[in-house]
Amino acid sequence: MTEQKPDAIYRTDALIAEDIDAYLETHQHKTMLRFITCGSVDDGKSTLIGRLLYDSKMIFEDQLEALSNDSKRVGTQGQEIDFALLVDGLAAEREQGITIDVAYRFFNTEKRKFIVADCPGHEQYTRNMVTGASTADLAVILVDARKGVLVQTRRHSYLCHLIGIKNIVLAVNKMDLVDYDQATFDKIVADYASFAEEIGIESFTALPISGFKGDNITVAPSENTPWYDGPSLIEHLESVEVLSSVAADRPFRMPVQWVNRPNLDFRGFSGLIATGSVKPGDAIRVLPSGKTSPVKSIVTYDGDLEEAMAGQSVTITLEDEIDCSRGDVICVAGNPPETADQFESTLVWLNDEDMHVGRGYWLKLGTQTVSATVQQPKYRVDVNTMEELAAKTLSLNDIGVAEVYTDRPIVFEPYEDNRTLGGFVLIDKITNATVAAGMLNFSLRRSQNVHWQATDISRRHHAEMKNQTPRVLWFTGLSGSGKSTIANEVEKKLALMNRHTFLLDGDNVRHGLNKDLGFTEADRIENIRRVGEVARLMTDAGLIVLTAFISPFRAERQMVRDMLEDHEFIEIFVDTPLEVAEARDVKGLYKKAREGKLKNFTGIDSPYEPPQDPEITVNTVEMTPEEAADHIIQQILPLK
Ligand code: ADX
Repeated sequence: MTEQKPDAIYRTDALIAEDIDAYLETHQHKTMLRFITCGSVDDGKSTLIGRLLYDSKMIFEDQLEALSNDSKRVGTQGQEIDFALLVDGLAAEREQGITIDVAYRFFNTEKRKFIVADCPGHEQYTRNMVTGASTADLAVILVDARKGVLVQTRRHSYLCHLIGIKNIVLAVNKMDLVDYDQATFDKIVADYASFAEEIGIESFTALPISGFKGDNITVAPSENTPWYDGPSLIEHLESVEVLSSVAADRPFRMPVQWVNRPNLDFRGFSGLIATGSVKPGDAIRVLPSGKTSPVKSIVTYDGDLEEAMAGQSVTITLEDEIDCSRGDVICVAGNPPETADQFESTLVWLNDEDMHVGRGYWLKLGTQTVSATVQQPKYRVDVNTMEELAAKTLSLNDIGVAEVYTDRPIVFEPYEDNRTLGGFVLIDKITNATVAAGMLNFSLRRSQNVHWQATDISRRHHAEMKNQTPRVLWFTGLSGSGKSTIANEVEKKLALMNRHTFLLDGDNVRHGLNKDLGFTEADRIENIRRVGEVARLMTDAGLIVLTAFISPFRAERQMVRDMLEDHEFIEIFVDTPLEVAEARDVKGLYKKAREGKLKNFTGIDSPYEPPQDPEITVNTVEMTPEEAADHIIQQILPLK
């Protein structure tokens, strides 16, 4: 065989989705194995994939042609593809449009169909591999027989193990170049075995192969390796257990994607069954509410089913009218998953911007979306040495372990047991970019034992007694912009109007509640989080709260907005240009900052992100504080 150029069949986005559908349709009866190949360029990965495609001979000729035509049009290796259209593991990415360099090709043999994800080994490696591996049943780790186990081999293996791939194949390639020497093979296997044990890989399958010559690819043993008595690579790929059959044996869980309500007589809950199976008559439980009902029917486009299994998309109707909406999880009544709001999790950071400890990100887990914060990492892992290192944050491609808190309980299972209910992504609330992929390891016990205590005098009672609607008037602007002065004027005016108010001022709060915080980004985030929580408690008490904090970051102002009821948060931008604030320099701090005696000063060497759509803006160049206060009162009066 001449060396095949598999690059010719790299594909892009939408075309892949269509072809995959056609492909799956044609081979319905076969199980599917998704696998990932890892190795550096000269480990012979391309040759091996070419060989697999060529030897399986089952790839459709017309498809091959279409693929190579397309790839001429759209480019070849290194083309950015939209992974989301194909991969459904970290399903939230589908809506997130994260782009990575992973090439997917598909082929099949008589027994099975295959999708292989090939991640090029350059800089974005971790990100590519994590996304490529997130749906894989198996990983082929290629090692050059002449070089043995390298740092890269360890890194790839660690990532595959981390992502939860249980079937690891150590393919010792280029055996032809070491004269098919058994001792060389045995030594590599022994090296790998001791490393694998160290990181917790329980078992792996080692094969001596030559992608170039074709040894032990389809039939084994090759006449060149009479000492080898295991299966060929294809035989092994055809026989390992795939995730979907493991998933089918687990308890029933189906995250609800949407409520199907075409008319008043029909109400069904649609979703993709993550694990287990379900039959009409089975007792199910809807989480997080915990309500139960027997299943009435399982509806699909092709008629009702007697049973549905993991991997199928169905609509379930229930005997009893119980509440259930998108994001809920329907599960077997007697064996439900856990619900919690604090977790230990492993995170892979995918964004150019570092993780912000304490910042609110959207956390998407299956069909559930909640607001979440990440605490300072317990450690980060050096993926080359597996060392656990101290870390204040996580940067692009870092892997670390940290606690994650969600703002309300989510239904989950440890990632190890269930990728769908244990794998999540974090999304930046402002830019909407996917910043991390994560795996929930376990819930923290304290979150199980702290429950919300309902009190009889509600926030509504508190507000009614004060005859007002609670609000938060959130002043933001540079130091010296006039926030405190104007807020003070507004509070006096509200007091004259018999309003019950409280003013939280940056400098004052930093003398007490927040005296442990400085002006690093992380401390400012925590400053605002605490102030947000206090403001929320005060609105529960029925108060109109005024806050005067620089609050330089959009994300945290948004976080406080999200903590409160609709329309309760009124963002007031005290729009004073830097030159003006600096010229006033009431506290002499700008001078100090300019002289380098004060670090991280907002506007000088720490950023200020002005509001994009504040409810109210006051311009302190044109207005006196008194006028600005009047302007604000005018704006909020109609609100009562
Ligand atoms: S915030 O950024 O975390 O919202 P906050 O409003 O609490 O800041 O505190 C700002 C006040 O702290 C300023 O008005 C100023 O008096 C004082 N200050 C001291 N150091 C700094 C600094 N490095 N940057 C900004 N303000 C500072």
